[in-house]
Amino acid sequence: MVTGALGQIGTELTEELRKKHGTHQVLATDVRDLPDHPCVTGGPFRYLSVIDADDFDRVITEEDIGTVYHLAAILSATGEKNPELCERINVGGTITVLEAARKHNLRVFAPSSIAVFGPDAPKHAPQICPLNPTTMYGRTKVTGERLAMNYWKQYGVDVRGIRYPGLISYKAPAGGGTTDYAVEIFHSALETGHYDCFVSSDTRLPMMYMSDAIRATISLMETPLDRIGDARGGYNVSGVSFTASELADAVASRVSGFTCDFNPDIRQKYADSWPDSIDDQSSREDWGWSPEYDLDALCDAMINGIRD
Ligand code: NAD
Ligand code: SER
Repeated sequence: MVTGALGQIGTELTEELRKKHGTHQVLATDVRDLPDHPCVTGGPFRYLSVIDADDFDRVITEEDIGTVYHLAAILSATGEKNPELCERINVGGTITVLEAARKHNLRVFAPSSIAVFGPDAPKHAPQICPLNPTTMYGRTKVTGERLAMNYWKQYGVDVRGIRYPGLISYKAPAGGGTTDYAVEIFHSALETGHYDCFVSSDTRLPMMYMSDAIRATISLMETPLDRIGDARGGYNVSGVSFTASELADAVASRVSGFTCDFNPDIRQKYADSWPDSIDDQSSREDWGWSPEYDLDALCDAMINGIRD
């Protein structure tokens, strides 16, 4: 089962899992009504809210679910506008999933984020350091990692997670995060030739192309249990790190006449509280992680994908 399957990651993860395990082996679930979405037209889909624990339990039993990829969440920018909702969905939803996992012996993938780091973390963020995020979204992700570790240690629930960087993809829109500029810039460049970027030109953040993120997710979940270490709640993974102006230059070199203005809004504050890049030694050692997409490969894939 994939929760939040109609979102930016779920759209591509569901497709990949269906290719791998068979269409009818992968149940997509979400609270959005999008009848033409490929995850709805392309295989089994059920409306399911992760904060309705009874319904969640019923679907797990009826559909004979063995593994949950728990992607339903409220992202950082939307979460700062509505912190109570963010906490309710992100923490409450994760508890629903972990409780079901405890009762029904499920394996769980529950992603974390670079948002777990706060301004006191080193700018090249290590796997282990104090986690003092200043956003509600980041706090819910720290709680998610701690819950994962507790359910593993107390109940033996095999739950694993990745601290995804900002993810860049074209198959589904980005879902209300701070790193959305790195997706929007490509669409605007090709539609209008111009982008008003909501962070400053020198803002540097860890990013990753979606194909790398999907490969990391499946690879982590396929790793034998005895290889998974204490980072299981949120493995650092590195993709690529660039400033907003480096991204704009890379787009301009591929889309003739493209211009970009930088007008930071409130999301600048969230971006400034996050690291520039990520140390992913634990992922490399424990389950062989290595990214494939650099900035050039990512730009080519985005532009070709949107044009197609
Ligand atoms: P998204 O916003 O694109 O998708 C989330 C989905 O969850 C949406 O389709 C939404 O309808 C659904 N949802 C919301 N409330 C729900 C509820 N109560 N029950 C069921 N579904 C509900 O998000 P995404 O980018 O696909 O992110 C998926 C996960 O990855 C989240 O945990 C997010 O924090 C994490 N993550 C994402 C990124 C990124 O850059 N996309 C980076 C780091 C971490
Ligand atoms: N991309 C996400 C966000 O900006 C990070 O978790 O919210």
